[in-house]
Amino acid sequence: MSALEVRAMMPADLEAVAALARRADPFGWTMRNFQDAMAGGYTMTVLEAEGRIVGYFVVMIVVDEAELLEIAVDSDVQGRGYGKTLLKAAAAAARAQACRCMHLEVRASNARARKMYVSAGFCETGLRKNYYPTENGREHALLMRLDF
Ligand SMILES: CC(C)(COP(=O)(O)OP(=O)(O)OC[C@H]1O[C@@H](n2cnc3c(N)ncnc32)[C@H](O)[C@@H]1OP(=O)(O)O)[C@@H](O)C(=O)NCCC(=O)NCCS
Repeated sequence: MSALEVRAMMPADLEAVAALARRADPFGWTMRNFQDAMAGGYTMTVLEAEGRIVGYFVVMIVVDEAELLEIAVDSDVQGRGYGKTLLKAAAAAARAQACRCMHLEVRASNARARKMYVSAGFCETGLRKNYYPTENGREHALLMRLDF
């Protein structure tokens, strides 16, 4: 893995981040979603490696609870540990803002992300039935939480 830099997402990054989101997840956030989140003051971070942005996360903090709204690694560099680096940085950012836990929702079929969350210590706390659209119907969301 090359030198890594975790830094705040800037307005100038939004185009690259939205393009990455589209490649990583066909149902991921649009440019408009990222712009709204930035205007809303969410915690938005990119990971730079290999001379470019390779991933990002977006966290929303409400009082002392954090919600991981988005996390993605570019499709051509997944499986190199960048997801884990981002998840650790997201948890550290939440702790630094005095959060006591982090929540997230994940597609039931997203085995890779679920495995990453479990190995970071997240526990399943619930299920939202038929929550996410798929190409041919709907699928369940699993709710997960990490207590700090
Ligand atoms: C989920 C995602 C962020 C993981 O990022 P990544 O850089 O590929 O993951 P890492 O290389 O850091 O691996 C983290 C863990 O994921 C799991 N993982 C990685 N590749 C995997 C694979 N091919 N199959 C199953 N699990 C895998 C492993 O548990 C791994 O930890 P380990 O190496 O200690 O076993 C990335 O795959 C992604 O962007 N997916 C599309 C968007 C998405 O699904 N976001 C999450 C929405 S809730």
